[in-house]
Amino acid sequence: MNKEETIQQLKEQVLLCHRCKLREGCSQVVFGEGSLKGGLMVIGEGPGQDEDRQGRPFVGRAGQLLDKILESGGFNRREHVYIGNIVKCRPPGNRVPLPEEREACLPYLMEQIAIVDPKIIVLLGATALQGLIDPQAKIGTSRGKWLYWEERWVMPTYHPAALLRNPSLKRTVWEDIKQVVEKYRELVDATHRSEYC
Ligand code: URA
Repeated sequence: MNKEETIQQLKEQVLLCHRCKLREGCSQVVFGEGSLKGGLMVIGEGPGQDEDRQGRPFVGRAGQLLDKILESGGFNRREHVYIGNIVKCRPPGNRVPLPEEREACLPYLMEQIAIVDPKIIVLLGATALQGLIDPQAKIGTSRGKWLYWEERWVMPTYHPAALLRNPSLKRTVWEDIKQVVEKYRELVDATHRSEYC
């Protein structure tokens, strides 16, 4: 099976999942989407209201900002980036997913990572950082510093929703994305172009 078929098979399995209570309170599972080329993967927290309605990750205000940030680095979902979340069902009222919800969903994310096989992973916010790498890690001190995890380069940065609340963080995130662009050129495509760096 190729990557498309393998991920489609996983998606079909995840769409039927009832491992935790979140599925009862959401309208649909938001599996993830994007390029399977394996350059870059971006991981967020979980679907919000817009994602729950549309069944796609990062399509609300935070998602639009994420697309702009990625675009500044010369990246888009179709060609360069696969986007997933720690949990695939919307937590009620957009609360942070509970440890048991994250744990129930994590094997799916691990499979997605294995299939997409990204050289670089960007973690958006504390839930992504703690859910994937280290429950004790702090986003404020971890952001902007490369981690080498499971033979992949991982860059934690702030979640775009945090930037909507506090626009002064945009500059900081841009510094982190510039590092991602550099690493992408080094590991994935030396000719990668970005208008801004
Ligand atoms: N926030 C997230 O963390 N993920 C989404 O898919 C949308 C908003």
